Parts: sequence; structure tokens; C-alpha cells
Amino acid sequence: MVRKSRMSKVDRQLLASFLKVVRLYLRAAAPTSGRRTKKTMRTSEVELNEVRQSVRNHYGKAATRESGCGCGPTCCSTLGQSPAHEQTPASLSQALGYSAAQTSAVPDGANLGLGCGNPLAIASLQPGQAVLDLGSGAGFDAFLAARAVEPTGLVIGVDMTPEMITKARENKAKGNYTNVEFRLGEIENLPVADSSVDVIISNCVINLSPDKPQVFREAFRVLKPGGRLAISDILATAPLPEDVRQDLELHAGCGAGASLIEDVKALLASAGFTDIRINPKPQSREFIGEWFPGRGIEDCIVSATIEAVKPRS
Ligand SMILES: C[S@@+](CC[C@H](N)C(=O)[O-])C[C@H]1O[C@@H](n2cnc3c(N)ncnc32)[C@H](O)[C@@H]1O
Repeated sequence: MVRKSRMSKVDRQLLASFLKVVRLYLRAAAPTSGRRTKKTMRTSEVELNEVRQSVRNHYGKAATRESGCGCGPTCCSTLGQSPAHEQTPASLSQALGYSAAQTSAVPDGANLGLGCGNPLAIASLQPGQAVLDLGSGAGFDAFLAARAVEPTGLVIGVDMTPEMITKARENKAKGNYTNVEFRLGEIENLPVADSSVDVIISNCVINLSPDKPQVFREAFRVLKPGGRLAISDILATAPLPEDVRQDLELHAGCGAGASLIEDVKALLASAGFTDIRINPKPQSREFIGEWFPGRGIEDCIVSATIEAVKPRS
């Protein structure tokens, strides 16, 4: 009995020591694993924010330089040095499919020549509709849409670059528009109510987003049942080389963030869209070549229209 009791005491001491070690280990391990998870999350958030900040800087400069400074990696520093930049915003837009009547219908400074197509040409807007312009810039497409849906329709432009929103609001005042408003925000987190929009337009913006699945989920959320996407954007026809993908300047210039056409179709379907139609414009090869002289990127990307519908039920 005496021996058994001594052994039990030793056992108890061993057990107590063991438990103490376990407690110390758990106390040390818990914050470490927490920090690890947070660090991993922070790293990816930092990367996404770095991309967004680079895009914001690029278009902040575009907003204050007035014209010809947007898609293309070095436009802000080489204004007037390449054929594309000797053109006016109006002539650039007319080459993308806008009519002269459209380019002269908006206030001076609303068209900065930043698009890569004409979403209004596929939007079939009707009076009374609610329209959302993703990445509305200085307001060019939003103002054209506002005229198409007046008197009772409303257009909301969303852009994450404060300088663009300021410029768009100044242009709104210049043009006396009463049915258009501009909201500062990201297209990945739209400042727009659920099921409130008939048509989403966008011109050369979604390629700039570092989180495209979220953009399409948000677009789906804010559309009414039966609502539509009418988008012009840059898409990839072949995988982009890794050095191009990693180049923030090329990304901000609409050259590096493009997703493959098949991937965009899959993202749209996974967000819930139906009637998905993507129509590449082979003629865009020429102006894309001017954005990135000598990089050969026109072999991998193309301007395209994207259309899709949120089902009624
Ligand atoms: C190439 S410009 C096009 C502007 C306008 N759609 C046009 O055609 O004149 C891209 C615009 O999208 C905005 N933008 C880019 N990424 C965005 C994002 N994730 N959320 C909101 N706006 C964004 C930029 O600030 C910029 O004004």
C-alpha cells in the first residue's frame, strides 16, 4: 500500500508537470496560430490593396491631366509622343464606335478617351431604367446613359478614384444633369442596394480589378431579376506571360489584368448569370498595339463586349 501510494504521488507529480507543459504550449501556440492566420490574410489584402492603389494613382493622374492618359502603361509620362496620344479624346472614342453626336453631347472633360469600346451600343437603354456604370471615370458613359433613360430613369456612376469622382461631379454641374449621381466606391463592394438596377454598363474597368469573382457577384446582387450586363472590356485570348502579369504599371494600363475569355464566362456563370455572350473585337489589335508598343501584348489581349442576364427566378 505504502509503495502504491508513493508511486501515485510520483505519477501525480509527473501528470502535473505534463499538464503544465501542455498548458504553456497551448498558451504559446494559440496566439501564434492566430497571428499566422492573420498574417496570411493580411498578406493577400496587402497585395490586393497594392494593385488597387497603383490603379488609383494612375487614374488620379488621368483625371487631372485632362486627356489621352489612361489605358497604356506610360501614357501619363509620354503624352503627345505616340500616335495614340496625338489624338483627341473625341477621335479616340469615335475610333471605338461612338458617334460624333455622342462625343459632342457631353460636357468638356467628361470624355478622357479612357474606354476600349462602346457599352452604350449594346445596352439598349430605355426611358425610366436604372443604370449603373462600373468605373465611371469622369462621367462620359454615365452622361450618355442619363440622356437615354430620362426623364424618370436614374444613372449611378461608381469609381474608387477620388479625383475621378470630383471631376465627374463638376461635369454633372456643368451639364445640368439631374438624373445622374456619382458615388465613391469599389466595384468589388458596390455602394448600391440589392436588386435595384436594370442595366449595368462598364467601359475598360473590370480588367483592372484584382478580384473579378467578387465584381461579378456584386453585379449580380445589385441587378433586378431580368437585369442585364452591357460591358466593354479587355479580355485575354491566351495566357499572359508571368512578367507581364506581375507588372503593376502594365496592369494599371489595362494590359496585365485581363482574364481569359473562358474564365470570364465561368465566373459569370458561377455568379448566377445566364445568356452569357462574349464578343471579341479583332480590330482592337491596332489600338492595343499602340498602348504597349513593342511588348507584343496585342497577341494575348483583345477588346470585347460582355453581355449576360440575371435570371428572373
Ligand atoms: C480605363 S478608366 C475608364 C473610365 C470610364 N469608364 C471611361 O470609359 O471613361 C478606369 C476607371 O475605373 C476606375 N476603377 C478601376 N478599378 C476600380 C475598382 N476596383 N473599383 C472602382 N473603380 C475602379 C478607375 O478609377 C478609372 O476611373
